[in-house]
Amino acid sequence: MKGKLKFIPVLFFIMMLVVSAVGCSSSTSGGGEVSIGIVLPTKDEPRWVQDEQRFKDALADSDYTTEILFSQGSSAKEKENVETLLNKGIDVLIIAPHDGAAAGAAVEAAKKDGVTVISYDRLITETEAVDYYVTFDSIAVGAAQAQYLVDNASGSGIPLYLYAGASSDNNAFLFFEGAWKTLQPKIADGTFVIANSSEAEGLKDKAELTRDEMGKILGQVTTNWDPNEAKNKAQTHLTAVGADAKGDVAVLAPNDGTSRAIADVFAQDPEVSSYVISGQDAEKASIQYIIDGKQSMTVFKDVRTLVTDAIGMAVDVLDGNTPETTGSYNNGAVDVNAKQTDVIVVDQENVKQELIESGYYEESEFSGL
Ligand code: BGC
Repeated sequence: MKGKLKFIPVLFFIMMLVVSAVGCSSSTSGGGEVSIGIVLPTKDEPRWVQDEQRFKDALADSDYTTEILFSQGSSAKEKENVETLLNKGIDVLIIAPHDGAAAGAAVEAAKKDGVTVISYDRLITETEAVDYYVTFDSIAVGAAQAQYLVDNASGSGIPLYLYAGASSDNNAFLFFEGAWKTLQPKIADGTFVIANSSEAEGLKDKAELTRDEMGKILGQVTTNWDPNEAKNKAQTHLTAVGADAKGDVAVLAPNDGTSRAIADVFAQDPEVSSYVISGQDAEKASIQYIIDGKQSMTVFKDVRTLVTDAIGMAVDVLDGNTPETTGSYNNGAVDVNAKQTDVIVVDQENVKQELIESGYYEESEFSGL
């Protein structure tokens, strides 16, 4: 790395030539040199298409050449994407892994090439080949989802349905950890009664869970981040329970895509009289669901900030500066220096202020606002 920094002025010069030659800004494709490679997990979820768009917006006037590739939920494709970018001479790799542990091999190949690796939103685990991590406060995301259920609970014995993200994603554990810390006292005092996980039921007296314990619960209630799987699980759960586990219920749904799928199932059950359900990502479809009263809340993670932080870090590295970080995350192998961003709870009350007045979305994209 040290040796490499010496060549940065030369590299800059070459890059400037490349930039002016191809008039390049955001997503370059085809051959040629690329300085920042970006790999995102899938195009099939609006969350990551949103990140792509925000990267393009942020890089529109940039002097750096970048390329964004999607891994389509496959670690093999992800590795291939990284190799493609390495062949194009990237100096910095920004990567949100499909599977945090499986991505180790890809980033180790990048490190071997002297590339600086920035884990984006999702932490790459069990490897030393990660230099930085830019992320939202994921424990706070789960805590905010759970707090919303607590704040909207009235009475006691409320059936609580738990759902979680994919266990291959470190974030799924962080979200669940934050949610459990907030929910557990309310399960212990009888406000909530767990309706769909015998593992969670067995652990209900433990304020803090180990990763293995969370893994057991996730094994029962994972959605794998897949709305179809979420829908099927919700249907199975509602079929399995009696009327006493219906009525007014609370649902911890890990993100917007799965929340809408689960909400649709609960809305169709005649024995469910009302439900409060969480979400995450402020996806447009879920904003409409919130306006329509079909989803209760979402956790807004302003992707513009994450993108700005990731690019800022990459540019610092390219300029030979040390990126600013605010803490660290242990990934099972090393402490990775991290920059973390706060999140905002959005429901019907503040949706207009947080998402329209802030310029994140256009009012015309929604009806009934
Ligand atoms: C992200 C969420 C996203 C989920 C599914 C998580 O790692 O932090 O924003 O909804 O993956 O893609």
